Amino acid sequence: MSGADAAARREELVALYKEVSKCTKCPLHETRTKTVFGAGNADADLMFVGEAPGAEEDRQGLPFVGRAGQLLNELLVEIGLSREDTFICNVLKSRPPNNRDPLPTEIAACEPWLWEQVRLIEPRVVCTLGNFATKLLTGNPTGITRVRGTPQVQQLGSRTVYLLPIFHPAAALRTPAVKEQLRADFATIPALLERELPGPLPSAAEIAEEEAREEAAEQPPPADQLGFFGDAG
Ligand code: URA
Repeated sequence: MSGADAAARREELVALYKEVSKCTKCPLHETRTKTVFGAGNADADLMFVGEAPGAEEDRQGLPFVGRAGQLLNELLVEIGLSREDTFICNVLKSRPPNNRDPLPTEIAACEPWLWEQVRLIEPRVVCTLGNFATKLLTGNPTGITRVRGTPQVQQLGSRTVYLLPIFHPAAALRTPAVKEQLRADFATIPALLERELPGPLPSAAEIAEEEAREEAAEQPPPADQLGFFGDAG
């Protein structure tokens, strides 16, 4: 991407950050200390999407600065990357009290910010960390244990990306076997970043049009083309 284009997108991202910091679209604005917009490289090829800020993130206004964030940093170093190469954010930009699960109404209020972030950053690979981010960005309710580690081509707004669902690092901190699976999934990221991106996926209207065309082509030919002859009598 050209420098001028990246600079313009970065400026828009800064404007978006300012908007998010004032957001009152859900009641979480009453209990948060700071919004947590996300941080990192505004032109990153690799983006991570977590669930929601925890206590330390809420205090600092930065994503993944607690123990889960430390593990994320370690795993990035193991694959030759650092946080500065990536953009890290969450589905929710405000902390749910006592770290409870995000509510569907909160996700619905907050998700337009995430779509805007994807549009402006233009990542090639989006790693969803855990169930909430994975279900939202795949549009599929299948749980993380079943889908982790297999990249999917996904259309996120106007952007076609490889979406790689992986375990949340907080789950990896609780269970050593999960940590090893997370490490194995991280090891696939460098090759995925090199893989050529497919073009935009067809829209629902384009798929319907193509199906109608195929159906029309499958109509049996008229009888006079079938080589039938009239009654022998
Ligand atoms: N867990 C998350 O999902 N996000 C953070 O920013 C921190 C912990």
